Amino acid sequence: MNIIYHETSKTFHIYNDKISYIMKVLPNNHLGHLYFGKAIKDRDSFDHMLELYPRDMAAYYEASDGTRFSLEHVKQEYPSFGHGDQRLPAYDIKQSNGSRICEFEYDHHTIIQGKPKLKGLPATYVESDEEAMTLIITLKDHLLNMYIDLSYSIYKDLAVLCRNTKFYLEGESVVLDRAMSMCLDLPHANFNLIELTGAWSRERHMHTRPLDHGITAIQSLRGHSSHQFNPFIALTSKECNEFSGEVYGFSFVYSGNFLAQVEVDPYNVSRVTMGIHPHMFSNVMHTGDSFQSPEVVMVYSEKGLNDMSHTYHTLYSTRLARGKYRDQVRPILINNWEGTYFDFNEEKILSMAKTASSLGIELFVLDDGWFGARNHDRAGLGDWYCNYDKLPHGIEGLSREIEKLGMKFGLWFEPESVNKDSDLYRTHPEWTLETPGRKSSPSRNQFLLDFSNPLVINYMKERMDDIIGKSKISYIKWDMNRSMSEVYSACSNANEQGMVYHKFILGVYELYDYLTTKYPDILFESCSSGGARFDPGMLYYAPQAWTSDDTDAIERLKIQYGSSLVYPISSLGAHVSASPNHQLHRHVSIETRANVAYFGTFGYELDINKMTAEEHEIIKQQVAFMKQYRHLFQFGTFYRILSPFENDDTVWMSVAKDLSEAIVGYYRPMSRINAPYMKVKLQGLDPNKLYDVNGSLHYGDELMNYGLSLTDSTSSHNYEKHGDYFSKLFILKEVK
Ligand code: DGJ
Repeated sequence: MNIIYHETSKTFHIYNDKISYIMKVLPNNHLGHLYFGKAIKDRDSFDHMLELYPRDMAAYYEASDGTRFSLEHVKQEYPSFGHGDQRLPAYDIKQSNGSRICEFEYDHHTIIQGKPKLKGLPATYVESDEEAMTLIITLKDHLLNMYIDLSYSIYKDLAVLCRNTKFYLEGESVVLDRAMSMCLDLPHANFNLIELTGAWSRERHMHTRPLDHGITAIQSLRGHSSHQFNPFIALTSKECNEFSGEVYGFSFVYSGNFLAQVEVDPYNVSRVTMGIHPHMFSNVMHTGDSFQSPEVVMVYSEKGLNDMSHTYHTLYSTRLARGKYRDQVRPILINNWEGTYFDFNEEKILSMAKTASSLGIELFVLDDGWFGARNHDRAGLGDWYCNYDKLPHGIEGLSREIEKLGMKFGLWFEPESVNKDSDLYRTHPEWTLETPGRKSSPSRNQFLLDFSNPLVINYMKERMDDIIGKSKISYIKWDMNRSMSEVYSACSNANEQGMVYHKFILGVYELYDYLTTKYPDILFESCSSGGARFDPGMLYYAPQAWTSDDTDAIERLKIQYGSSLVYPISSLGAHVSASPNHQLHRHVSIETRANVAYFGTFGYELDINKMTAEEHEIIKQQVAFMKQYRHLFQFGTFYRILSPFENDDTVWMSVAKDLSEAIVGYYRPMSRINAPYMKVKLQGLDPNKLYDVNGSLHYGDELMNYGLSLTDSTSSHNYEKHGDYFSKLFILKEVK
């Protein structure tokens, strides 16, 4: 790993054994981009990569040495609009005279060992300065007396470049209307774009489309990162698949509005920009003010999507997620939501907990409905006081009783939300995001508190402190159940309204930071109507997230497969729920439900007391099995083998770091009569190790080249036995 500045050619080269990133100060002192991709040898100059060919009909720069070139035709690091570059820019600054023309020139740079923290924002981190290096290039606009710091961090052993941008002003007031976290001008357009897209209960489906001239973009303007588009895109070579081909990943460490955009110009340059969405963003800056953008994590691989995912998984599970549970297997939980919804009392909860405990389940999570008048979703949100009618001994008493059963206790909160039918709203209507004089649109009968208001954050700190302080709480599920509308903050003046969306997210981060610092032993799980805020920003505070409100095992194949493109298996909240399933009304065996949920944090979400003795016995075995293998499911190297988006069946697997064991999950939603032979080539095993695969012996090289036969479970004579929604796990153990 190194960062070199070649003085004579004014070239920066950031590299490690895997990647190189090269930039150069252009003749007009702007910063140009030369290369990002597989590591290449360093040299004094890469000037031959600079394509400054003059083209007709373009506005051009004329340097003092007579060199003419147009910014429209140059690959740049952090471009502006209006100096001849007609593409969408990385930033936009409105000045007091109404002009938006800027001239940010190279001023100086700093190279530091390690990786600085981003104040108030989640970001990847280092545990020792030897792990990474950071280059900060400072650009200056002399007329505005304003600076931009472009920050680039490279990790020693990972094909990762982390970027962020900071603006600071020493001159007169300006309005920052666009401040993307990064820009990358790639030299061709021969890419497919992969996005993780969907809607409530079908989040993060992988979708691929080719780039074409013009703009391809995904976004959220919902105030949270959203079910609709995850803050991630990948650009892949046309032949790229899970196992080979070139891929560039872009992942935004942020939980609010975002834009990820690729603009392909007529010369086939692909300009990638990613950052806070400029719509509804407007930052009035005065002398001395600064603005820090969130981080974008760029990953490069020449070995396909699995390899890109491994880089994200390693980085996000070890240097983004934090806290006690980062490296620990996760407790097997039971959550009462789909078991009882709002209809519970202390007796019912304790009885469920008692059964769960007897089956080996480790954590009881009490979901929505324990506070205020929250007997349905029309009232009570915001009133974080225990409902003693339901729970006569309070959360305090209940949590102690549950601990007496040998289990830990966890509790649901939705700190950002409020029902109008609540004491909190009646007392503080001004704490809700609503626009004066306009109608407010409820969603799930609720509204959002103004988390840009420090008084609201302080109130939530007090309420949560009070409950946590009195009770025995080992886990918190932090939910958030609506997109934003009519956003306006009563505590901001007219000029400040353009920052309310962002300040809301900063408020969420502040409360998370407060709680995770004060209660380091509590495991946090983030949630937003399932996976509407399943993003790297949340992962920094909560090492696991509720993947989707869709608990149907068959639907989960796509959701978990897509999520795994970026997010580690240890972060995927996955539960066995009732059959028929509450979302799809589908009957799926308890084995298949568990076989999907094992590849996640694992737990149950059903009324365990409505199950038969036979089912209890199965659960007991499943819990024991998960305890035996959860280190492998959650912390092994995860490979996607057969995609549910392209095939009828799904196969994925987890391999232990020392390659001594692995688990393959095979899922066949629909039965087939007299089916063709079927085998899959496994990945990541030791070719020389002999593995016991469910009782039959095979070398790793055979399993990875000849493959693992799946024919047995799809052949006609087994059809009646297995039926639809069949699945099977293959346990591989090294024979010594
Ligand atoms: C939405 C979550 O995704 C569910 O798991 C559950 O917690 C409900 N909210 C409770 O209102």
